[in-house]
Amino acid sequence: MGVQISPSILSADFARLAQDCERVAGAADWLHVDVMDNHFVPNLTLGLPVVESLLKAVSTPVDCHLMIDDPDRWAPAYAEAGAGSVTFHVEAAANPATLARTIRAAGARAGAALKPGTPVEDYVDLLGEIDMLLVMSVEPGFGGQKFMDVVVPKIRRARELARGRDLDLWIQVDGGITAETIEICAEAGADVFVAGSAVYGAADPAKAVRALAAQAESATASSWWCSHTSG
Ligand code: DX5
Ligand code: ZN
Repeated sequence: MGVQISPSILSADFARLAQDCERVAGAADWLHVDVMDNHFVPNLTLGLPVVESLLKAVSTPVDCHLMIDDPDRWAPAYAEAGAGSVTFHVEAAANPATLARTIRAAGARAGAALKPGTPVEDYVDLLGEIDMLLVMSVEPGFGGQKFMDVVVPKIRRARELARGRDLDLWIQVDGGITAETIEICAEAGADVFVAGSAVYGAADPAKAVRALAAQAESATASSWWCSHTSG
């Protein structure tokens, strides 16, 4: 897989969700849906009933980012509902490896997310159980925050670990991804890019998605790890 863009609908109009999803159809690889429970993060967004309705209304695959307590209990239902990718936070999961297997068994790609302060070194064994590692580049909870460049070495380290073990691991970066920050993430090793305000704050969201993808593709082509991106 090459570069993929997953616009975050957190920056869309929640009263017009399906229409706003359509605005990136054909350009976006995924729709990134931020589920927040007001416990794991200090914000409340939407949950399973809204995701179930969205899945019926949109054609783009859905990438659920669960910022919730007790994902061991709640995450499998998002996979069973038909989300193409379900990502839980390792800080909240009682048994990340078991949960990843359950999500995969339900037919979705399994993702594990790390907050900015959570080291990837603590989860090396988990990398073989998941399809995607999400490296958060802001503290989870809100859109429109400033990119934390202290996480760039973690993206690079995650890509080194995946390559060292010959894993086909997608590395997603989420938070403050814009025209100014996407290239440094692609160069470091990310290949799936979440962007909320940079997409939905633009006059033409689909055009913004294509521009971000083009930037990430050219940065990847000249990166240290680009031999990994064939296919
Ligand atoms: C933050 C969310 C992000 C957020 C990104 O907790 O996980 O997906 O919507 O928004 P921007 O791209 O505006 O930082
Ligand atoms: Zn997110």
